[in-house]
Amino acid sequence: MAKAKSSFTCQACGAVHPRWMGRCDACGEWNAVVEEAGGGAPIGGRASGGTGRGRKIEMTDLAHVGEPQPRRRTGIDEFDRVTGGGLVRGSAILVGGDPGIGKSTLLLQVTAGLAKSVSCAYITGEEAVDQIQMRARRLDVDRAPVSVAAATNVADILATLDVPDGPELVVIDSIQTMYIDALDSAPGTVAQVRASAQELIRLAKKRGFILLLVGHVTKEGTIAGPRVLEHMVDTVLYFEGERGHQFRILRAVKNRYGATDEIGVFEMTDRGLSEVENPSALFLADRQGEVAGSVVFAGMEGTRPVLVEIQALVAPSPLATPRRAVVGWDSGRLAMVLAVLESRCGLSFSGGEVYLNVAGGLRVGEPAADLAVAAALTSSLTGVPLPADMVVFGEISLSGEVRSVGQTDPRVKEAAKLGFRSAMLPRIRNKTNQSKADLVFQEVAELQDMVGFFERGGDGTVRAASG
Ligand code: TYD
Ligand code: MG
Repeated sequence: MAKAKSSFTCQACGAVHPRWMGRCDACGEWNAVVEEAGGGAPIGGRASGGTGRGRKIEMTDLAHVGEPQPRRRTGIDEFDRVTGGGLVRGSAILVGGDPGIGKSTLLLQVTAGLAKSVSCAYITGEEAVDQIQMRARRLDVDRAPVSVAAATNVADILATLDVPDGPELVVIDSIQTMYIDALDSAPGTVAQVRASAQELIRLAKKRGFILLLVGHVTKEGTIAGPRVLEHMVDTVLYFEGERGHQFRILRAVKNRYGATDEIGVFEMTDRGLSEVENPSALFLADRQGEVAGSVVFAGMEGTRPVLVEIQALVAPSPLATPRRAVVGWDSGRLAMVLAVLESRCGLSFSGGEVYLNVAGGLRVGEPAADLAVAAALTSSLTGVPLPADMVVFGEISLSGEVRSVGQTDPRVKEAAKLGFRSAMLPRIRNKTNQSKADLVFQEVAELQDMVGFFERGGDGTVRAASG
């Protein structure tokens, strides 16, 4: 069968088409299909699907003989926790994030931290070597024994690294700047990114070095073009945060060597990223006591409780279709909470604009935030604030029932530690709960119970019903 000379690959989703098209069939993206020579086949080695006779492969047992894989700890606890306790030999890690969010800064600090025990190489395709050196001085890591090079040709990089006493950790910043001569397409295209990553990962497995790949994220939130990279690597970390905020959050979205729900919290300072050991205190630092629409949510990020402020604003709207805007939470979930409040509790948001914001730039993904969001919305609508020393958590079902969520104890303990005195939460079936001593519990079984709390004026005193 004759092979097509070139293929047409969508730069947004990676789908391959037989001919050019203005709009990708697979993902619906316009002007994303680009002609690529060679069909994106990897260089080196024989083309897959060859007709030659295969060699017999060797089978082995499930049981691993020998030492367990040692993990390399960087000494940066927030980073080590997210990777599941350090980096594993021969693994490939993709670090994604918006341009300018601090990926290069983080990786330079990580590399410098590891360089004490492991030989490290930092290869940049984005900056000049003296820019890296200047940054290292600014971060006060310029004496760490890290080898630095500026290079973009993958063949050169492979030739340098494929030696017996090569480095044990390699950073490639960024994969979008790397290219392979044999492919006609430009650096940053799906074919180049995929083939470059494949070659580098293959060598990492062969030589057993840790490979950290930096990938820029497009506005749509995918690692530029190649989603394909996500399943080629062992671990995918996202570095995120709001540009205007100093907080940065490192999150594992895939991890073959650990849990994926852990986060690492950093603060960007003028001397690089510093670890934030108590994120709750930081996220709540700017809170202004009792304000209608503001609620403190007691959340969990992996094994660590994190308290954040959820702010809602319900404002009159001149528009026929009022705006709904969300920062830090899922907009579909907001629509659901609004619908449940309207149909089960008789509140009306239909004439108003609704804004929801998770303060501090954190993205909350837990359904346990439902009740806190509903409370913030109700508080803004009624103008009644919650007591400043109350935290809220609980999941809401479509029927208006408040469901219990996991890990009540760590949430309550963290709240007590930070000086909170009460908690609005789902009804606790297991009454032997010890943390009950720490806070006054306001248990709610139905969403209506939460709304009733505001109708009573937020503190149990009966308020005149308005309208
Ligand atoms: P950078 O690591 O270059 O981002 P990325 O590699 O993700 O594109 O970080 C760039 C931003 O970080 C830049 O706007 C400056 C800021 N920054 C600091 O605030 N303090 C520092 O010590 C450093 C090195 C950078
Ligand atoms: Mg960079």
